[in-house]
Amino acid sequence: MSQREVGKEQQPVSPELFRDVIRHLASGVTIITSMGSGGPVGLTATAVCSVSAKPPMLLVSLNTASHTVEGVKASGAFAVHLLSHADKAYAENFALPEHHFDGVSYRADQATGAPILNKALGYLVCVVENAVPVADHILFIGRVVGCGLNDKQPHPLLYFDRNYRKLSSETETPATILEPWGSAQDIGMVSA
Ligand SMILES: Cc1cc2nc3c(=O)[nH]c(=O)nc-3n(C[C@H](O)[C@H](O)[C@H](O)COP(=O)(O)O)c2cc1C
Repeated sequence: MSQREVGKEQQPVSPELFRDVIRHLASGVTIITSMGSGGPVGLTATAVCSVSAKPPMLLVSLNTASHTVEGVKASGAFAVHLLSHADKAYAENFALPEHHFDGVSYRADQATGAPILNKALGYLVCVVENAVPVADHILFIGRVVGCGLNDKQPHPLLYFDRNYRKLSSETETPATILEPWGSAQDIGMVSA
């Protein structure tokens, strides 16, 4: 049986059922920014994934209808900001259709022009290496050309089951099997 034929006999999965399952995948919340032809653009996003450490690469999935996708296409660069729980208002603001940068303090990255939010847990600046259209989204695979961590004792903003969440202060027993990923410190992406 060819790859294309696998699963052909099954009932198609509806978007509603897919959403009902995938909303139970807990995610960190980010803001992705870029410099569009008409000024800075940005949106709240959870579809962000680390791809490799050597070289540092990540991918983001952006809806083709978003203004941000146009900025990323035009500039060939974007910045991903990791949010603290204290920055929940940023997440709500950047999920609105417009006026994202009103009252938001940022600077332009020297190399790419991507807007860097001054108040974020951390950020990664990326240059687009590949853009892959998938359904109504584009996957942008970015090479990380700059990054920084602003908060050494972070309280990240999480998203789970259609709600923002806070990480519990309860800790699990330390993880013993980290390979092949290791921690961010292990692979040298952030300073210890
Ligand atoms: C928690 C959350 C996660 C989201 N994740 C994404 C995402 O990964 N990709 C995306 O394209 N939109 C995502 N959105 C929707 C955008 O933030 C929203 O459509 C935004 O208004 C688009 O802004 P723009 O058109 O100015 O770029 C998310 C929204 C929320 C609230």
